[in-house]
Amino acid sequence: MPLRTRLTERLGIEHPIISAPMGLLAGGKLAAAVSHAGGLGLIGGGYGDGDWLDREFAVAGNVRVGCGFISWSLEKKPELLDQVLARSPAALMLSFGSPAPFAARIKQSGVPMICQVQSMAHAREAVDAGADVIVAQGGEAGGHGGSRSTLTLVPEVADLLADAAPDTLLVAAGGIADGRGLAAALILGADGVLIGSRLIASSEAAAPPGFQQAIVAADGDSTIKTAVVDIVRNYEWPGEFSGRALRNRFVTSWHGREDVLAEPAINADENERYWSAFRSGDADNTGVFMGEAAGLILDVRPAARILDDMVAQAERALGEGPQRIVRSRT
Ligand SMILES: Cc1cc2nc3c(=O)[nH]c(=O)nc-3n(C[C@H](O)[C@H](O)[C@H](O)COP(=O)(O)O)c2cc1C
Repeated sequence: MPLRTRLTERLGIEHPIISAPMGLLAGGKLAAAVSHAGGLGLIGGGYGDGDWLDREFAVAGNVRVGCGFISWSLEKKPELLDQVLARSPAALMLSFGSPAPFAARIKQSGVPMICQVQSMAHAREAVDAGADVIVAQGGEAGGHGGSRSTLTLVPEVADLLADAAPDTLLVAAGGIADGRGLAAALILGADGVLIGSRLIASSEAAAPPGFQQAIVAADGDSTIKTAVVDIVRNYEWPGEFSGRALRNRFVTSWHGREDVLAEPAINADENERYWSAFRSGDADNTGVFMGEAAGLILDVRPAARILDDMVAQAERALGEGPQRIVRSRT
């Protein structure tokens, strides 16, 4: 029995699962695999590279995929929005910054607009901008995010939408890596989920084997919210967001010493070392974004199996109800 929700109906997909537009790791191969498996795959537009985007859309071929941008970064290269809209993507997702500067252009194109939010203030902003889908992202998530947790943010946004924008769909993100998480998100009032960390450990992710082994080996305690990955890369993220990454050798040697890492001479050296380790897949000496869901990820599998297993487990959980209620005998 497929899990039909408003999300599957509105987007014309089989499973209520969207893959996160993870910069550099979510290319056309992963997005196409997720869409092919019945979800909606998103290419990670990241910090914006037009040639890379063209290549990755070409890799996805005829499979319907969408794309996600980092809003504050897109403001510096707004022409990329038209470049992607010209490909009639299945959806356009905006995160981290106001959607307002881009909303009219996206709405006019007829492409569904997905806005990822980290707080109630962001959720109201997304409603005002006319979002078709709001992703409520808890701070458990891998990569950048805010400080609210998924368990409270999702139902609170669900209540807001029920009153203010009943046609806007809600998707939960942050910490969801198996069918229990999917079932819980639906119970909290979401129409589906968006998953990132779980798909780093998929056969189709553009992640080096070293990163995939690291996420399989990590547990939920192994990650930390830190600014050092942004400082070494010279990315000027708005202060309300920080990145959740593996607490590895690189992070532990600089976390708490951010001022030193920002010194130009040290930064230049470390930047070179960082990217060289990144390119060679050395998970100990670069930034490896992953969420607390790392503790639920035990193997690398094809995306289709990840989606199928999640849905099957969620269906069972929803059908059987809670497993751990202690019932009184009296
Ligand atoms: C490696 C990695 C890179 C990410 N890059 C982006 C990005 O470029 N743009 C974006 O909107 N979200 C990005 N995210 C966050 C995801 O959109 C999503 O909120 C998150 O992965 C959900 O939590 P989970 O990792 O627990 O599944 C990234 C997440 C990860 C793990």
